[in-house]
Amino acid sequence: MTFLEQIDKNRVPESVAIIMDGNGRWAKKQGKNRIFGHQNGVDSVDQVMEAAAQIGVKYLTLYAFSTENWNRPAEEVNALMDLFVEAVHNYMDKMMANDIRLAVIGDVDRLPQKTRENLQKSIDQTANCKRMTLVLALSYSSRWEIIRAVKQIAAEAKNGALDVDAIDENCFSNHLATSGMPDPDLLIRTSGELRISNFLMWQLSYSELFFTDVCWPEFKKENFYEAIVDYQSRERRFGKTSEQVTK
Ligand code: IPE
Ligand code: IPE
Ligand code: MG
Repeated sequence: MTFLEQIDKNRVPESVAIIMDGNGRWAKKQGKNRIFGHQNGVDSVDQVMEAAAQIGVKYLTLYAFSTENWNRPAEEVNALMDLFVEAVHNYMDKMMANDIRLAVIGDVDRLPQKTRENLQKSIDQTANCKRMTLVLALSYSSRWEIIRAVKQIAAEAKNGALDVDAIDENCFSNHLATSGMPDPDLLIRTSGELRISNFLMWQLSYSELFFTDVCWPEFKKENFYEAIVDYQSRERRFGKTSEQVTK
């Protein structure tokens, strides 16, 4: 049986997040430069986005560029900024055909104007799509997002718009870049690294984690389905006992 056939269509995770890692190492293994790896990761995004929408995932969040990634060599950063524009442009037909909306989270003010403008065009073009939201985390980090939320909350408390006693988990979540989006049910990280790397630290509190040695340029539909099947074998207890959640 294929992994797709093993998926229980009634228990598909609503929200999946992916740390797309290993482009550089994958390219190096072929004797190519790191940028070749990023270019080959574009097709994996294309495949996984379509696979996720078709099985009924509602939110697919992809970590494409962290705030720490700004510290990479300028040549690589510039190539990635151009690649984001080109890739998103190429995804548009498929996104419209599959009814997929684009959203971006992160410190987008740091992106080059051309990248920002082109992303905004695609966000506007897909604004009415309803089947799934593709969230690109670009110039994103969890600490950046948390500090920004704390500053906003402090400012609102100071000017009297927010009562300090009203600050609860909901209030805090609503000040994050992911406001209004469900927390990931499943986090996937490719390339064998076992860490979070400053990604969605608040939102991942109760996510199931799936790590695979496969590098991102080789991660295709079947690999995604495999992660979903694995997720469906887990018992999510949210602090309760097994008896409480199975009855
Ligand atoms: C992930 O692949 C893509 C980005 C972080 C932009 P890497 O570029 O991190 O590839 P490795 O981890 O060095 O192999
Ligand atoms: C995390 O990958 C960021 C993205 C996938 C965009 P990195 O390759 O930057 O993470 P570290 O440095 O190995 O933790
Ligand atoms: Mg990496």
